[in-house]
Amino acid sequence: WPVYAPYVHAINKLKKERNAAILAHNYQTPDIFHCVADIVGDSLQLAKEATKVDADIIVQCGVHFMAETSKLLNPDKTVLIPDMKAGCSLAESITGADVRLLRERYPGVPIVTYVNTSADVKAESDICCTSSNAVAVVESFGVDRVLCIPDEFLAQNVAAQTKVKILTWKGHCEVHERFTAEELLAYREADPEIQIIAHPECPPSVVEIADYAGSTSGMINYVRDQRPPKVLLVTECSMASNIESSAPGVQFIKPCNLCPHMKRITLPKILDSLLEMKDEIHVDPSTADRARQAVERMVNLKQ
Ligand code: 13P
Ligand code: SF4
Repeated sequence: WPVYAPYVHAINKLKKERNAAILAHNYQTPDIFHCVADIVGDSLQLAKEATKVDADIIVQCGVHFMAETSKLLNPDKTVLIPDMKAGCSLAESITGADVRLLRERYPGVPIVTYVNTSADVKAESDICCTSSNAVAVVESFGVDRVLCIPDEFLAQNVAAQTKVKILTWKGHCEVHERFTAEELLAYREADPEIQIIAHPECPPSVVEIADYAGSTSGMINYVRDQRPPKVLLVTECSMASNIESSAPGVQFIKPCNLCPHMKRITLPKILDSLLEMKDEIHVDPSTADRARQAVERMVNLKQ
């Protein structure tokens, strides 16, 4: 009888009583991912599902920008995050004032902001993107120059796949920036059979040697569809643990790095969140209106 079972039972009971839905990112720990989440996915899937969810309350198991995105798309629902301090190094790398300065400096150049940003930043941008649609979003303007901020590595990885000139910012994901090509080549040298699957927040030198690069759900689908005998997931630690059971026969090698922000969300905090209805996400209405437009343009983009 695992130690987390009473929490799982209590959360699932309370969830029904309160008519709440739990949205969990692919980086949540397996107990959350498998036992209490109603919807799991990457950032784009969670944003899309947030528009469809039939519940009065959304408990966002992920980081703050994800909960804020759910609130933007569901202004009349209560959106809770079990730990308000669950941040993101990318979201913290840029402010709305920075984006206004960029607009002054590059008049007429469309501004695409990664969804890993605050509502203030989204409100100053033309459209959002995630790692799974960034190339399509950048190309949707039909112009030759686009600002793609704040993730420098994602922008460079997008630039490698399009003719559009990409201007960027110096933000990095503190988890993915730590992977190096040398480290991965050493794994490949030790075992040439291994497949390397990387997230596009990794440096371009890492993505270049990967067999596949894509969003967290893209990586999951690749492993489930291709069933490589040995795979190295170049991303946050929980991903491999979450999908191991649905990919029998695949051996996972885990050179993982932990996201300390994602790991702030735990079963006891989810239970507290539902019991005490905390911490509630609020966004200033005028910021929310403009930020929502940027997110909705992305969600509605035909791909
Ligand atoms: P995905 O959109 O691929 O899920 O990525 C979100 C994230 O925070 C990765 O670090
Ligand atoms: Fe942010 Fe990186 Fe953590 Fe994703 S993994 S939430 S980009 S710090």
